Amino acid sequence: MIDLHSHLLPAVDDGSRSVDQSVKVLFEMARQGVTDVCLTPHLHSGRAEAGPPPAHSGAFEALRARAPQMPRLHRGAEIMMDRPITRPVALARNVTIAGTRYILIEFPRLVGYEIVTNAVSQVVELGLVPILAHPERYSCTSVEAVRHWRSLGARAQIDATTLLASRTRGQRARLLVSEGLADILAGDNHGDDRTVATGARFLRAQDGHDQVDLLVRRNPAAILADGELSPVPPLHIRQSWMSRIKQFLEGS
Ligand SMILES: [Fe+2]
Repeated sequence: MIDLHSHLLPAVDDGSRSVDQSVKVLFEMARQGVTDVCLTPHLHSGRAEAGPPPAHSGAFEALRARAPQMPRLHRGAEIMMDRPITRPVALARNVTIAGTRYILIEFPRLVGYEIVTNAVSQVVELGLVPILAHPERYSCTSVEAVRHWRSLGARAQIDATTLLASRTRGQRARLLVSEGLADILAGDNHGDDRTVATGARFLRAQDGHDQVDLLVRRNPAAILADGELSPVPPLHIRQSWMSRIKQFLEGS
């Protein structure tokens, strides 16, 4: 499995607070079968032109010195879109995922549909592929909205553990996967126990083996290789999902 969204660069944002904390999480991810992790600290788009802040590079070196060999570490950022991305950012590719044309972007929870639409178009025009981080969080997100953003060139990253949440965003996450509108899953780990493996197990329990392979392995690998993503087939998530989650949590 590959996890392209994490806050494990120590002490630079609201994620892991220390190298020790990150190392512990990385060992646990390795145990779960995660081979690659992208470190995606928060960064505002208005500051992206300067590249990763020096503190991020220092934190990366400190983590790399102590991190296990597996999972392999890649660098990226989660870009909060408060301003348009500029052409120098697109050319430098030093805040994209592992230097590829794929860029992880996010918005405030109450963002409007048109704002996301315009941002996606603008990023695509620069020759980058915007990956929408956790679209299930946004109140403007719907099946139609994500379908439109994807038609403009965006791709969608669903938070793996949110697939098990009972509240609205969990319902949106399941709906997007069931409609075949999710391109990858990621843990969005903040130094805690959130992991891509949880979502993978949940979807396998829904007989979504092919979907899981695409969402957590083939498509994230294609991103790291700067290749093309494959469509993920729709997956019927049974209405009895709540009892499934309960069983899953109880380990039965
Ligand atoms: Fe994040």
